[in-house]
Amino acid sequence: MRKKLAAGNWKMNLTPNEARDFAAKLAPKTKGDSDVVFCVPFVSISDVVKAVEGSGVSVGAQNMHFEEKGAFTGEISASQLVGAGAKYIIIGHSERRQYFLETDEIVNKKLIKALEHGLIPIVCVGETLKEREDGITIELVRMQLKRGLLRLTPEDAAKTVIAYEPVWAIGTGKTATSEQAEEVCGAIRTLLEELYGKNTAEQIRILYGGSVTADNASELFAQKNIDGGLVGGASLKDDFEVIAKA
Ligand code: PGA
Repeated sequence: MRKKLAAGNWKMNLTPNEARDFAAKLAPKTKGDSDVVFCVPFVSISDVVKAVEGSGVSVGAQNMHFEEKGAFTGEISASQLVGAGAKYIIIGHSERRQYFLETDEIVNKKLIKALEHGLIPIVCVGETLKEREDGITIELVRMQLKRGLLRLTPEDAAKTVIAYEPVWAIGTGKTATSEQAEEVCGAIRTLLEELYGKNTAEQIRILYGGSVTADNASELFAQKNIDGGLVGGASLKDDFEVIAKA
């Protein structure tokens, strides 16, 4: 049985003090049967880790570099994240792919490094509106994953979380219907079975992300192949309490 996961992606919002106060208030309210993680800006990780102590909520980061350490001005390594108390790491979010030119190859390097350090990766994939209209969604997502997960062992794959996030649904208020989301998440499960076998594929959590709200969360998360959500806008509101409980 896969445990549901509600992951908040705070993006580039809140100062460390604001993040600490918000996390301290929200964390106890999210208690339930699901895993909950707040993926916060680098500078707030330590403060939020302290703020959520004892609540069961974990803290994650939104990006990392794939090298171990060294002359990479402005970058953050996996061991630095672990040292700051992060447990999860978002890899290959569409905003990173779009604005910072991250490729599937970079996603793959980051994923391998994150796993090496015991971080739980949340690997994001998804199509643009044009790609959906061109009818290549499933093929595209399969290719993003085949390249992104290259050389992963089944053991490491089992620890990895996949987030299906249609780019056209992120921050737009245009949520995918539960049928659209389930179709792609089911196709992802099929690919994972081809790559790692049925047993492993059944253990891997697949999230949906893109305009998840308190109103649509329970229907989305009730789908067979959707094991929770990666939530942007609504993770900074009280809605996240409802989403975590859904
Ligand atoms: P959204 O963002 O919930 O605001 O659409 C989701 C995400 O970017 O992960």
